[in-house]
Amino acid sequence: MRRILVTSALPNANGAIHLGHLFEHILTDIWVRFQRMAGNECYYVCADDAHGTATMLAAEHLGTTAAAMIETLRREHAEEFGRFHVGHDNYYSTHSPENERLTRAIYERLAEDGRTFTADVEQLYDPERKLFLADRFVKGTCPRCGADDQYGDNCQECGATYDATELGNPRSTLSDNTPQLRSSDHYFFDLAQFTDFLKEWTASDAVQPEVANKLGEWLTGGLKAWDISRDGPYFGFTIPGTEGKYFYVWMDAPVGYMASFENLCDRSEGLDPDDFWRADSDAEVHHFIGKDIINFHCLFWPAVLQGAGYRTPTKVHTHGFVTVDGAKMSKSRGTFINASTYLKHLDPEYLRYYFATKLSANTDDVDMQLDDFVQRVNSDLVGKVVNIASRCAGFIHRGFDGTLAEGVHDAELWAAASNVRHELADLYERGDVGRAVRQITALADRTNQYIAEHEPWKHVNDPDRRDEVQGVCSLGINVFRALVVYLKPILPAMAAKAEAFLKVEPLAWEDAAEPLVAHEIDRFKPLFTRIDRKDVDKVVAETVAEVEAEDAEDQGGAEVSIDDFGKIDLRIAKVVDANFVDGADKLLELRLDVGDDARTVFAGVREAYHPGALVGRLVVVVANLAPRKMRFGTSEGMVLAAGPGGEDIFLVSPDAGAEPGMRVT
Ligand code: 2FM
Ligand code: ZN
Repeated sequence: MRRILVTSALPNANGAIHLGHLFEHILTDIWVRFQRMAGNECYYVCADDAHGTATMLAAEHLGTTAAAMIETLRREHAEEFGRFHVGHDNYYSTHSPENERLTRAIYERLAEDGRTFTADVEQLYDPERKLFLADRFVKGTCPRCGADDQYGDNCQECGATYDATELGNPRSTLSDNTPQLRSSDHYFFDLAQFTDFLKEWTASDAVQPEVANKLGEWLTGGLKAWDISRDGPYFGFTIPGTEGKYFYVWMDAPVGYMASFENLCDRSEGLDPDDFWRADSDAEVHHFIGKDIINFHCLFWPAVLQGAGYRTPTKVHTHGFVTVDGAKMSKSRGTFINASTYLKHLDPEYLRYYFATKLSANTDDVDMQLDDFVQRVNSDLVGKVVNIASRCAGFIHRGFDGTLAEGVHDAELWAAASNVRHELADLYERGDVGRAVRQITALADRTNQYIAEHEPWKHVNDPDRRDEVQGVCSLGINVFRALVVYLKPILPAMAAKAEAFLKVEPLAWEDAAEPLVAHEIDRFKPLFTRIDRKDVDKVVAETVAEVEAEDAEDQGGAEVSIDDFGKIDLRIAKVVDANFVDGADKLLELRLDVGDDARTVFAGVREAYHPGALVGRLVVVVANLAPRKMRFGTSEGMVLAAGPGGEDIFLVSPDAGAEPGMRVT
C-alpha cells in the first residue's frame, strides 16, 4: 500500500471559485478517489491562499478586515468544492499559526545555511496610498512597442516582458497618481545555488516531459535570485529579525500545503506529518497545478524544500487552461462561470464527467464546448451507461424476483469488462482519464449491443428461454456494476445510488474482478437526468448579469463632471403594480407611474421586498436609461437602491409631497 499526500493549487482568498479552479480540483479529486479505490492510503489537502496586497485591497474595498474576509471566503470555497464532491480532507488557510511557524522555520534554516541574502531594490511607490506597487497595480507605455495602458510586467500588444520601472508614463491603478521610484532592502532566496539539484530533479519523472523542456530553458538561461520579501503595508507574515518586512505571498503559499496537512494530522489519530515530509520519507507527495505556476512549483518549491532539509515532491502534475467554446473564459460572454452560478442550475456531476472526458496527461488547454457538454452527458451517461441497468433490471424483477443468474452468460464479454480494469487503472494513474472514459463508454456500447442482439424483451415469456433472459440481463447488470466501479472516481454520487440499487457495499477497484451471482438487486430508480440546454443558457445569462452588476458597482466612486451628471434623468415614480418574475429569484417586475408615462422596470429587490409592500410607494428611477432586453422582458429604467444586495437592499424614497414625474436634481 502506498501512502500518498495530494494537493491542488491554493485558490486566492480574494475572489470566487470559477470553472478554472473546478477543473483543477475535480481532476485532482478524481485521482485521489482512484487511489483510494485501489487500496492506497491517500490524503488530499488544500487551503485558501490568503496573503498579499490583493487581499488587503479587496478587504479595504469591502470595508472589512482581511482576516474577516478570508475566513468568509474560505468557508464559501470549501462548501462550493464540497458541493462538486471534491473531497479535501482539510481545506485550510495559509493565514494559520502552523503556516507561520513552518514558514519562519524554513526561512531561518535557509538563512543560517547561507541560502538567502539582502539587496537594495528600486520599486514604484504610490505616495498617496503609501505602498509599493506590485506589477499589476501599475500601468504605462510599453518600453518596447510604445503601446499605451500596459501592465507593469508584460505587454499585451507585443508580448515583451520588463520591469515596471521601465514603463513610460507610469501611473498607479490604485490612485491614478504618478508613482515615485523608491528603494528599500529586500530579502532574496539564492536559487542559483540549486541549479545542479534542479537539473537532476526536473530530469526525473517528477514532471511531465513538456514541463521538463520548459524548465530546461530556464535552467540553461541561468537562474535569478528570488525576491521573497515585501515592504509593509502588506497582509502576510513578518520576516523574523526584520522590521516591517513581510514574506512575499508565494514564499508561504506552498508551505501552506504542509501546514494544512499538519493541521489535519493534529486532528487525526496516528497520522504524523513527518512521515510524509522528512528527507528520507518513502511516502509520496503529489501536487496538481496549472501551467502558469510551474516556476513556483518546479523550481522554487523543490529548491526551498531541499535547502530546508525536507523531501522533494514525488510528482508535480501540470494541466492546461480551461477555455469555453474555443475562447478564453470571458466575463462579457458569460463564460467566466462561477461555481455558485453553475450550482443554481446544473448537477455538479455533469461537469465532473465532462471534464473527465477531456483530461489527458499533457498540458494542452481543455475546451469546454457547451453543446458538446450537453451531448456527452446525455448520450454517454444517460443513453449508454445508465440505460444498461434500466433495461435489464425490469426483466430481473419481473421474471426472477430480482435475483441475478448463478452463472455468466457470455464469458468473453465478462472477461473483457473485468480485465480492462488493469488498463484503466494505468490510465487513471497517469492522469489519462479521457482515454479511460472512451474505453468505458466503448464497453457500454458493446454491452448495449449484446443486449440488443439477445432481445430479452422478445423471449421473456418463452419458458424455454427463461434462463437465457436471466443470463443476458444478469450479465448486463454485472457489466453495469463494473462500469460503476470504473466511473466511481468521476461520479461518486451516481456510484452511491448505483450501489444502493445493486445492494452492495461501497465498491472498490478490485470488485470488478468478480461478477455478482445469485445476488438480489433492488428495483431500478433513475440515476441521472438529462441536461437541458436551457439550463446551460441560464448559467451563461446569469454570469453576464453578475458581471454587469459588478461593473456598475466598480464605477461607483469615480469622479464625473456636472455635465455627465446632468445627462442622467432621475425622476420620482410611483409603484402601481409589483409582481414576482418566474424563473428569477432575485427580480421583481415593477410597473411605474413616472408622471406622463408608465413603464416596466425589473429590479433586483425580491429578497428584500414583498411585491405587495411596494404598491403605492414612491421611488426614484433613472428614467433615460437605454432599455435593456432581459430574458423576461424589457427593462425601461432603473430604480435606485442602496446596500450590498440580497436581503440588504434598501429602496431610495423621497419625502412625502413628492409627485410622480418630478425631476430629481
Ligand atoms: O495561482 C494561484 O492562484 C496561487 N494562489 C496558487 C498558489 S499554489 C501554492 F503554491 F500555494
Ligand atoms: Zn509592447
